[in-house]
Amino acid sequence: MKILVVGSGGREHALAWKISQSERIQTVFVAPGNGGTALDGNLHNIDITDLNELADFVEKEHVALTVVGPEVPLAAGIVNLFRARGLKIFGPTKEAAQLESSKDFAKSFMQRHNIPTALSQTFSDSVAAHAYIDQQGAPIVIKADGLAAGKGVVVAMSLEEAHGAIDMMLSDNKLGDAGARVVIEEFLPGEEASFIVMVDGKNILPLATSQDHKRLKDHDEGPNTGGMGAYSPAPIVTPELHARVMREIIIPTVQGMAKDGIPFTGFLYAGLMIDDKGHAKTLEFNCRMGDPETQPIMARLKTDLLSVMEHAVAGTLDTIELEWDRRTALGVVLAAAGYPDAPRKGDLITDIPPATTDCVTFHAGTLLDDNKRLLSNGGRVLCVVGLGDSVKMAQRQAYAAVDMVRLDGVQLRRDIGWRAIKK
Ligand code: AMP
Ligand code: GLY
Repeated sequence: MKILVVGSGGREHALAWKISQSERIQTVFVAPGNGGTALDGNLHNIDITDLNELADFVEKEHVALTVVGPEVPLAAGIVNLFRARGLKIFGPTKEAAQLESSKDFAKSFMQRHNIPTALSQTFSDSVAAHAYIDQQGAPIVIKADGLAAGKGVVVAMSLEEAHGAIDMMLSDNKLGDAGARVVIEEFLPGEEASFIVMVDGKNILPLATSQDHKRLKDHDEGPNTGGMGAYSPAPIVTPELHARVMREIIIPTVQGMAKDGIPFTGFLYAGLMIDDKGHAKTLEFNCRMGDPETQPIMARLKTDLLSVMEHAVAGTLDTIELEWDRRTALGVVLAAAGYPDAPRKGDLITDIPPATTDCVTFHAGTLLDDNKRLLSNGGRVLCVVGLGDSVKMAQRQAYAAVDMVRLDGVQLRRDIGWRAIKK
């Protein structure tokens, strides 16, 4: 059987790696892929990003099923296009992807369906937005309505910062259309967790829990990034909290989307803020898997992912259960010099240790040049995942491998997993 994975990041490398372990797999294509998917003998990069050309390729090659990693093709309607051509694909339609592609859509959806989230209001007029901020006070959170590649959220600790964010988005148009409307919401204190499930329109299959590390530097300092490391499971998500999140957030979301006439299919990711009483609110929805959360999650998945995907597309996710490695998986991101503002490209990468049962490295911003040299090609370059019987042991495995890798100017955090270890 032939499968296509759309995307080029660490998430897509991990998904393709896992799918390729299925015995029924003939080829896993990755479009466009990266240096790691190019080096992996079981994967095959194809240099196509245009959605119509991808559909042509899938028809020509008789690809049985397509899995989409990133939000941009989903928001552009890749699922609508493939379905209209009778091609099997796992992901949300363009309409359902609005849960991620429009913060305003997500907020009004959550308000309408009583899903716990921060109080908020949406503005396109800067005068009204400034007045609202003065009335609410700081800390306060400003979010661009549209997709802004991780640059659309300002957690303002002072009024000055909050007003600056409004000027940047509404007056100076720094984020273009994505920032033409802003959601201003109350600041929620607490600890974050990533809650990711698979949805087939009706049935929900939760994946293992995880926690990301958004800030660039140790002790959660420095600028926000796409994520500098993640581990699974996340002990903050106790069985009680898990049940509660399903009951209060995930099930009402899936039922609410169906009720609103836009049934959700695909990975649904709720970013949670958990307060000190153990109550969770939704910070955001993503209509895809997390990156880097996918890397430790896939390292723990024991079930054949191809058959899971087939059930997801057939609408029979209620008939299967997932089996997980009991160990903790912990992924450390190796980022390029200059990340996140201006990542440097073209640095040579060497000495990545070979995969073992305790460690595997997924590629993100890498490419294989004509001389078969591996070069950096983006902000987040690699994610090294270690597995161990405790978070501490998984951390030790991961950093032992990280320390072998050579990449000039590399930036990484030394404290991935610290919250779980502190518990
Ligand atoms: P988002 O893209 O909405 O998840 O926001 C990016 C990051 O900003 C989150 O991962 C949080 O760390 C932070 N954040 C977002 N909304 C809030 C909020 N209401 N209160 C506190 N922090 C927030
Ligand atoms: N790691 C956060 C995200 O994928 O949005």
